Amino acid sequence: MQASANGAQVYTANCVSCHGAQGAGVAGAFPALAGNKAVLGDDKYLSNVLLYGLQGQINANGQVYNGVMPAWAASLTDAEISAVITHIRVSWGNNAPAVAEATVKTERGTPKSASQVLAQRPQ
Ligand code: HEC
Repeated sequence: MQASANGAQVYTANCVSCHGAQGAGVAGAFPALAGNKAVLGDDKYLSNVLLYGLQGQINANGQVYNGVMPAWAASLTDAEISAVITHIRVSWGNNAPAVAEATVKTERGTPKSASQVLAQRPQ
């Protein structure tokens, strides 16, 4: 197991295609992660979005989205997921505390559907 995954590398390899190199997303298709209140908020919600994906209508930075965020539980380790969440919380002007690998591990222990994850999204 990797002691410290590189969040920027995980982001470049897996997230840039939709959310963009500057976390700006694509209006109406892929939500911005920069300046997004949900990204700065609940660490359990974010762990679940990464593990199980997200599906259903959301409003992010004043834009409505109704897309499908893929699940990463099968392809990324807890260390990689905590590192990439921490990366998006401290990049592009975002400033929120790191997310612990232990938080991701705990959420991995209770599988959820992408629509159950939506119900956890902070409003
Ligand atoms: C195939 C495109 C795609 C890829 C790749 C992708 N996402 Fe997403 N992501 C989305 C979509 C679409 C949504 C919004 C889903 C909805 O409308 O319910 C989303 C939502 C999110 C959210 C929740 C935002 C909110 O406002 O609640 C976070 C956090 C997130 N993505 C982070 C990531 C990270 C980190 C990666 C890389 C590991 C990644 N995404 C890869 C398409 C993608």
